[in-house]
Amino acid sequence: MSRVFSMIQPSGRLGIGHYLGAIRHWEVLQAQEHDCLFAIANLHAITVPQATAELKQHSLDLVAFYLACGIDPEQTTIFMQSDVKHHAELAWILSCITSLGELNRMTQFKDKSQNTKRERIGAGLLFYPALMAADILLYQTNLVPVGSDQKQHIEMTRDLAIRFNQTFGETFVVPEPYIADTGSRIMALGDPMKKMSKSDQDSNNYIALEDSGRLIQKKIMRAVTDSLNSFCYNPEQQKGLANLIDLYAACSHEDVESIVARYSGGGYGQFKKDLAQMVSGRVEEIYANYERYRRDTAYLKEVLAQGAINANGIADQTLAVVHERVGLLL
Ligand code: TYM
Repeated sequence: MSRVFSMIQPSGRLGIGHYLGAIRHWEVLQAQEHDCLFAIANLHAITVPQATAELKQHSLDLVAFYLACGIDPEQTTIFMQSDVKHHAELAWILSCITSLGELNRMTQFKDKSQNTKRERIGAGLLFYPALMAADILLYQTNLVPVGSDQKQHIEMTRDLAIRFNQTFGETFVVPEPYIADTGSRIMALGDPMKKMSKSDQDSNNYIALEDSGRLIQKKIMRAVTDSLNSFCYNPEQQKGLANLIDLYAACSHEDVESIVARYSGGGYGQFKKDLAQMVSGRVEEIYANYERYRRDTAYLKEVLAQGAINANGIADQTLAVVHERVGLLL
C-alpha cells in the first residue's frame, strides 16, 4: 500500500482541468486502497492576493468538490493545509537547503510574476515550491497525482528530499509523480497553445464546474480545430483537435487509438457533438452532487476536523525526526 498525497488551491472557479488532471486519478487511487491524503492548499493560495471572505468560501467549495467527485472521507483524509502548522515549519527548514537559483528557475514562478513589478511580487510566491515540497514530504508520500504543470515542482521536491537525506541522514521517502498520458494538460478551447486555466479572461476557453450543460455544449462546438478536415491525433500540426481527443480520452477512459479509429474518415462535427454530450453529462452530475454537499457547511467542517486530526498525527512524527536530524532541541 502506497501513501498518496495531493492538493488543489482554493483560488476561484473550479474546472474540468482540475477534475481530469488530478481528482479523477485520486478517486482511482482511493479505490485501489492506497493510503490517501488530499488537502486544500490555502497557504499556497495566499501567495497572490486573495479577498478574506472569498478565500474562506472557496476553501469550503473545494471540500464539497472533492466529495462530489467521489473522494470519501471514510477512506481518505481530507484536510485544510493551515490546520497542520507543520507545513509552514517544514517549508522554512527546507527553504534553508534550497538555492535562490533553483527557485528562480521554476516556470510557474516566472509565469505568475511576469508583468508584475519586482517590488510587488511577494516572497511567498518565490518560496512556493519549498512549501509544496514540505506538503509532500511531511506525509512520507510515495505518489503525487497531479497534472503535468506540477512536474517541475515535484522534481524539485525529489531533489530536496535526496539532499536532506544525504546531509542529515535518511528521513524522507523520495516521492514519484503520478501523471497520466491523457488529460494531464488540457488546453484552452479557443487557443490550444495555452493551458486551460480558471484565471483565463475569456470564459469560452474554459469549462467551469458551474457551467450549464448547454453552455458547455456551446463552448465545445465552438472550440478551435483546423481546416485539414482529417481526423488524426497529431498534437504538432492539429493541436486543437488533439486537445479535444485528449479531453474525450480522459473523460471516457478510452485510449486515443480507439477514439481515432471510430471517428476517422468522418468530419469533426459528430465527434464534437459526442464529446460535448459526454463532458456536459459528467460536469452536470458532479455539480448536482457538489450543490448537495455545499449546502451542509457543518458536515464539511466535520470532515476537515477529522482530517486535521489524522494529518497532524502523521506530520507530528515526521517533524520530530526532522528536528532530531537537524539539531533543533526538543
Ligand atoms: P492547482 O491548484 O493549480 O491545480 C490543481 C491540480 O489540477 C491540475 N490542473 C490541470 N490538469 C490538467 N489540465 C489542466 N488544464 C489543469 N489545470 C490544473 C494541476 O496540475 C494540479 O494537479 N501547486 C499546486 C497545488 C499544490 C500541490 C501540493 C499539489 C500545493 N502543494 C502538493 C500536489 C502536492 C497547484 O497550484 O495546483
